[in-house]
Amino acid sequence: MRFVLPKGRLLKGSLEVLRKAGYDVQKPGKRRLIEGFNGNEVLIARAFDVPVYVEHGVDVGISGSDVVEERKSDVFVPLELPFGKCRLSLAMPRERVVSPEEMDGYRVATKYENITREYFSKLGVEVEILKLSGSVELAPKVGIADAIVDIVETGETLRANGLVEVEKAMDVSAQLLVNRISQKTKFEEINELVFSIKEVIENEL
Ligand code: PRP
Repeated sequence: MRFVLPKGRLLKGSLEVLRKAGYDVQKPGKRRLIEGFNGNEVLIARAFDVPVYVEHGVDVGISGSDVVEERKSDVFVPLELPFGKCRLSLAMPRERVVSPEEMDGYRVATKYENITREYFSKLGVEVEILKLSGSVELAPKVGIADAIVDIVETGETLRANGLVEVEKAMDVSAQLLVNRISQKTKFEEINELVFSIKEVIENEL
């Protein structure tokens, strides 16, 4: 089987849960993007690309629910995983807080263009979305946006940038993703993987 795991904050938890489930996965060495183990392969991708790899052919992936939602990926999600818990929230500069309903005409910086658009359209509020690729908390700081929609875990990044959380848009957790075709053609292997991870989760609760 082929696995795709995300670079960054979810990598450690992802390797750990797979190892505990009996898959001796190794993080590929520097510049080697794919590592083999017991006939399987692991590749490490940008977090935002993991669901895309799984949708288009990689058997199994681990990704945040935020990314799956944003990418609108057609993947099978058999399990929510007990790490990577955080939230996607609307935040604004401490001294210029308004309610989301009052944000008509505001500019919102985010990596999550689709989720942000849906969030404001549900409220019937028209905002301009400024799509960035990271470090979005800098946008209000330098005055190119009025607010952000971004991941909040400890709240440390918001505090350090003079921002406050105004409203949660969604809860986020790591998820196991399975390619829809692999789900059928590698049914036994996938089932065994899901079962083993479930056992790990249950034993840890
Ligand atoms: C995320 C998010 C915030 C930070 C929140 O960034 O975008 O910057 O973590 O965590 P905290 O509430 O614990 O401070 P990430 O490290 O995923 O990278 P990014 O800047 O590319 O979005």
